[in-house]
Amino acid sequence: MLPHMCLKWVLLLLLISISVLDVYSSDENHVWATKKRRMREKVRRMFYHAYDNYMNHAFPHDELKPLTKTFTDSLSELGNLRLEHLPHDYNGSALTLIESLSSLVIMGNNTEFERAIIWLSENLKFNVDARINLFECNIRVLGGLVSAHILATDSTNRLVQGAYKNQLLILAEDLGKRLLPAFDTPTGLPYAWINLKYGVMENETTETSTSGCGSLILEMGALSRLTGNPRFESAALHALRKLWSMRSSLNLFGTTLDVVTGEWIEHSSGIGAGVDSFYEYLFKAHIVFGKEEFWRMFHSAYVAVQKYFRHGPWYHEADMRTGKATYWQLTSLQAFWPGLQVLVGDVAAANSSHREFFYVWEKFGVLPERYLLDHQMLHPTEKYYPLRPELAESTFHLYQATKDPWYIEVGESIVNSLNLYTKVEGGFASIRDVTTMQHEDHQHSFFLAETCKYLYLLFDDSFLVNQNYIFTTEGHPIPVLSAWHERLPEAYIPTNWTFVKKEKLVRQASAMSMQVCPANTLDTGGSGSQHVKSACHVADARSNHRCLSDEDCGVDSTNCRRRSCSMAGYCGLWLSI
Ligand SMILES: *[C@@H]1O[C@H](CO)[C@@H](O)[C@H](O)[C@H]1NC(C)=O
Ligand SMILES: *[C@@H]1O[C@H](CO)[C@@H](O)[C@H](O)[C@H]1NC(C)=O
Ligand SMILES: *[C@@H]1O[C@H](CO)[C@@H](O)[C@H](O)[C@H]1NC(C)=O
Ligand SMILES: *[C@@H]1O[C@H](CO)[C@@H](O)[C@H](O)[C@H]1NC(C)=O
Ligand SMILES: *[C@@H]1O[C@H](CO)[C@@H](O)[C@H](O)[C@H]1NC(C)=O
Repeated sequence: MLPHMCLKWVLLLLLISISVLDVYSSDENHVWATKKRRMREKVRRMFYHAYDNYMNHAFPHDELKPLTKTFTDSLSELGNLRLEHLPHDYNGSALTLIESLSSLVIMGNNTEFERAIIWLSENLKFNVDARINLFECNIRVLGGLVSAHILATDSTNRLVQGAYKNQLLILAEDLGKRLLPAFDTPTGLPYAWINLKYGVMENETTETSTSGCGSLILEMGALSRLTGNPRFESAALHALRKLWSMRSSLNLFGTTLDVVTGEWIEHSSGIGAGVDSFYEYLFKAHIVFGKEEFWRMFHSAYVAVQKYFRHGPWYHEADMRTGKATYWQLTSLQAFWPGLQVLVGDVAAANSSHREFFYVWEKFGVLPERYLLDHQMLHPTEKYYPLRPELAESTFHLYQATKDPWYIEVGESIVNSLNLYTKVEGGFASIRDVTTMQHEDHQHSFFLAETCKYLYLLFDDSFLVNQNYIFTTEGHPIPVLSAWHERLPEAYIPTNWTFVKKEKLVRQASAMSMQVCPANTLDTGGSGSQHVKSACHVADARSNHRCLSDEDCGVDSTNCRRRSCSMAGYCGLWLSI
């Protein structure tokens, strides 16, 4: 019970800090404020370079091909590795425009936001003969529309009065109804693929991923709350509960499963591809909908991840049945995990993984898709970097929680790498091979929905000042509203805000020591944290916990274990692999 309460308390403080910490930042160093403004403008230029090129050369098709300045109608290709069943007569759904809507609002471009809404409401149609991936379509298209609808109708009057008549919500509901037949299976777990016009196709594959059936609840839940039609939320919830019932005795999950038999196909999993957003949505659904059930699921799943997948700051994969390690790989998608840990309150663990991931980013200039930790080398084929946002996302969350200016420098380095290696005349191009920085003719829509957005928010978070938002796995903001909470958990009702302000209590939960809630640390206002020193403590030899080898590291004060030197050169409780 105690860890539960404690982790939850941490969560409360962090949620509050996201909206109130700015009050304390008035003493922010002028130099940093200037740098942040300059970097924000740099990110704004990046976004418009990507956006304007898309609008000029690809719109209303799905995505831009920046090298040839043409387009690709890629919605039906997303997640479709073998490019099967591609449509013959599909002219795109303006995917990149839909994905850009919330970024336009965050960057303060209400006129373009309104222009886009009007175009979409007059032209977007989902009655198209295209087989699409349920997960991708949900996070990109449904999530993009639902989030933009909320931003178009909130109290800020962004749009010319009367111009908006819920057109985006009507489109979202039409799309939602077209997705529902996918859930018509004996288990309630949805098919991975559905044709928007004809429903589930004959002989459709019954294989799907954990993310594919476990990360639909934010978008489908929001759609139900907004339309009053409970079918969307109910389908997503039913699938999530079924998936939850398939966990192993170790509280672990596999990566792929069969939606008809409800049996696992791939038993090895980690926190990366195929699983990542499942964990993310358990937690975020708890914040958005306030259900204790989501919290209980997340808590058990999180503890199991830290126990079976974590190795120092790294995460490997393990077999769900035995907990035995399977693959020792850093994948680019794993870089979102520290951001989620910040929301949970596990800032120390988030910080240490983020440092190591950023080290790999700096080593190559960008983050390669797959890096073999046991051999400290690139995966022989997965050497690409498709403009992914995850490291920027974690950097944004860590800066929100700590205001440590080091994360601003990380953001600056990410921005500079993106401009140096991926910017071309016609937009931003993915990288095919990080060893040669050879380009690929593709600008993914998530570069506008996520990469640019998180970098912008890192340098300018004014969008977050008066409202708490949770970002979907595609970076689309959903507000935290008490009206959406079935029963607002007591921990979220700030009865005494002065209390939080005055004490400036910072509690740290650390999974690094496998304790969800170790000794609390009282922040004494800038002069550093007061740790209780123990008898076995031996300080690290060099300043800032930096090291060249294990000899530079001391003995940990909390558990008396010998610290060692990580790949990025920091002392900690890493074990050698
Ligand atoms: C797609 O575009 C082509 C060429 O303009 C047109 O002939 C076709 O009817 C369009 N298809 C649909 C489904 O709109
Ligand atoms: C909004 O976006 C459009 C299209 O890129 C651009 O022409 C306009 O200058 C932008 N407005 C603002 C205020 O940034
Ligand atoms: C579906 O599978 C059956 C049995 O293998 C086959 O006879 C039928 O032609 C297939 N249908 C399609 C549309 O591929
Ligand atoms: C993150 O880790 C570095 C290196 O160990 C340390 O200097 C820094 O204070 C940590 N920051 C937070 C917020 O824990
Ligand atoms: C709020 O907390 C402060 C500090 O603990 C206390 O002095 C004050 O009386 C509290 N106010 C209310 C309304 O409970």
